[in-house]
Parts: sequence; C-alpha cells; structure tokens
Amino acid sequence: MSYRAIVVQEGVPVEPRLRTIDGPCTPAPADPVEIHVSHSSVNYKDALALTGGKGVLRHLPMVPGIDAAGVLAADTQALTAGTPVLVNGAGLGERTDGGLAERVLATADTVLPIPESFSAWDAAAVGTAGFTAALAVLALQRHGLEPGAGEVLVTGAGGGVGSYAVALLAALGHSVVASTGRVPERGPELEALGAAEVMDRAELGHPGGKPLQSARWSAVVDSVGGVPLANALAQTRYGGIVAACGLAGSSALPATVLPFILRAVTLVGINSVDAARASRTAAWELIVEHLRSGTISAIASRTVGLREAIAVAREVLDGRIPGRVVVDVRE
Ligand SMILES: NC(=O)c1ccc[n+]([C@@H]2O[C@H](COP(=O)([O-])OP(=O)(O)OC[C@H]3O[C@@H](n4cnc5c(N)ncnc54)[C@H](OP(=O)(O)O)[C@@H]3O)[C@@H](O)[C@H]2O)c1
Repeated sequence: MSYRAIVVQEGVPVEPRLRTIDGPCTPAPADPVEIHVSHSSVNYKDALALTGGKGVLRHLPMVPGIDAAGVLAADTQALTAGTPVLVNGAGLGERTDGGLAERVLATADTVLPIPESFSAWDAAAVGTAGFTAALAVLALQRHGLEPGAGEVLVTGAGGGVGSYAVALLAALGHSVVASTGRVPERGPELEALGAAEVMDRAELGHPGGKPLQSARWSAVVDSVGGVPLANALAQTRYGGIVAACGLAGSSALPATVLPFILRAVTLVGINSVDAARASRTAAWELIVEHLRSGTISAIASRTVGLREAIAVAREVLDGRIPGRVVVDVRE
C-alpha cells in the first residue's frame, strides 16, 4: 500500500525528498503497530536529519520525524483500530522510519492514546518538546522542588522544549526566569506563557565564569548545554537541581565539581527517546493537567504541509522559529 513520506537518502549532500513509497525504508521496530499519521512536528533533531546532520538517522534511506500522531490502523491488545494515538521518540526517525509520513510502525508499548481533551494536532504540537519539558519538570518534582522555593531558570526558552518548560513551570506556580537570545521577539510571548522575567542569554554566555557564582536558581531546565549550562550550575543554590535536556548550543560541559560538592547541586539527565511507559504516561498527565489549548497554539503558531517541513528545518536550526512547527502530513 503506497503512502507519502519524506525520505532522506544517501548522497552528497544528503537530500530529503517528498516521495510516494510502497513500504517502510527500515526494518520494523519490535512488537510493531501501524499508525495512520495525520500530524508530526519539526524538532531540533528532525531539523538536523532534514539538513544532512550526522548522528540522527542511524541508517539511510530513512523517514525522519521523532513525533507521530494519528489513529491506529488495526486492533492491538490494548486499543481498537481507529483510536487516536501518539508516539514521542522511541526510536522513530532515528532507529526506524519516523512520523514525517502518512504511515508509521511503532513499538506497541510506546504508543499512548491521545488524551480526550486533545486533538491529533494538539498532540503533535506538544510533541517531543512538551513531553521532554514535562519529563524535566517531573524530575524537578521528584527532587522535592515546590512552588515558592525560589526562581527556576529555563534556558533556550524561545525554542520548543524551553517554551513548554516555561509554560508548565509557570502553570505549576513557579517563578520562572526565561533565558533567550531573542529577547525583543520572544520576550513578550514568554511573559504571556508565564515567565516572571526574561533574561538575555548573553548573561549566561561568559566562558571562564567562576566555578561558584552568586547563588540564584532553585532549579534549572537547560536545553542548550555548554557554557550557559556550566554558568547555570555555578549559580544554582544549595540543594538545587539542574535538568540537562539538550545541546542546542554545545555538547560540552566546561564546569567544575564545586557546585556538586560545595552546594549539593544535583545534575539530572533527561532522555525522552527511551522513556519507560510509566514515565510517558506521567508526563502526558502533567501536560493534560497544566497546558491549556491557548498555550499550545501560542507555542506552536505555525502548521505546514509535508513538503514545507523540509524548508522549515533550516529555519529551526537558525533559531528563526518561535516555539514549534506542526506538520499536517496529509497536506
Ligand atoms: N533529552 C531529550 O530527550 C531531548 C528531547 C527533545 C530535545 N532535546 C534537545 O534539546 C535541545 C532543544 O530542542 P528543541 O526542539 O527545543 O530545539 P529548538 O526549538 O530549536 O530550540 C533550541 C533553542 O536553543 C537556543 N539556542 C540555539 N542555539 C544556541 C546557542 N548557540 N547558544 C545558546 N542557545 C542556543 C535557542 O533559544 P533562544 O531562541 O531562546 O535563544 C533555540 O530556540 C536540542 O539539543 C535537542 O536535541 C533533547
């Protein structure tokens, strides 16, 4: 049965094309279920895959897309055909064909029903970005962070993960400081999402900062890595927690152990791709409880068709996209 998909093929340079294919480009994942996809999104990882970045797609040719939302093609042990479902990560668009296609195969255990109050568009708009932000917030809560404990810093706040982290933390009653390189463009929107303060990312960008700096943050959600993460660690208060989600700036961590051994700071890693089903469910419960539809449409203010997703990738990597772009794969 043929369907439309973006296929990334071997070549110099690697070139993604919108094609009609007769079946998956990659072997199926374990315990596969088929989803008729209606919506996906363009995450940072997808943007890398669509622009020939190395290290995302493990084989070529492959269909990229780490998010998929649509309906089940057939009954499974847990759900009936036609049930609206979503998948985030779980190897889609990395180890096996992803969601930038009208069909995808996903491991049954990673497929969740779309919450009743959400549409497939909502599910894709939240996508891995909102899911990852929710996993980070859950990690902060497990550490004991409560509203009123002090300021929470979110870096890369103008991007997908950052915007959702700001919205979730603010909805939970935290005092959120949003760090962004786009203060004039994104500042008012981040305040509308609930940020108490918007800070220029240059304030965290000084290399060679002292290993212990004036202690400010009770917690940090970081999607940037590198010097800003090192400075954020150095500015975290005694007993605070820092959730490392991403490397949009750098994969380096030019820090010392002093925040850990003198301020008992905890650094926790967030991995959305391989999250266990219980974590997936808990994260989506948090999302449903705390993200209003107006918030989601404010963060994901643009929807494109499948072909346009290829062009959008460059804009994502250049940091020109506010929040998240949804892909309507039927267009
Ligand atoms: N751990 C996981 O499971 C997981 C899941 C999803 C994403 N991620 C990772 O998290 C990161 C963010 O993903 P995303 O989808 O939110 O990407 P995104 O929408 O492109 O946002 C990334 C943001 O990072 C900031 N940024 C970019 N380059 C920077 C630089 N050189 N220095 C400082 N800040 C910079 C920008 O924020 P401003 O515009 O506000 O300055 C940009 O909007 C990526 O590295 C991605 O791979 C990890």
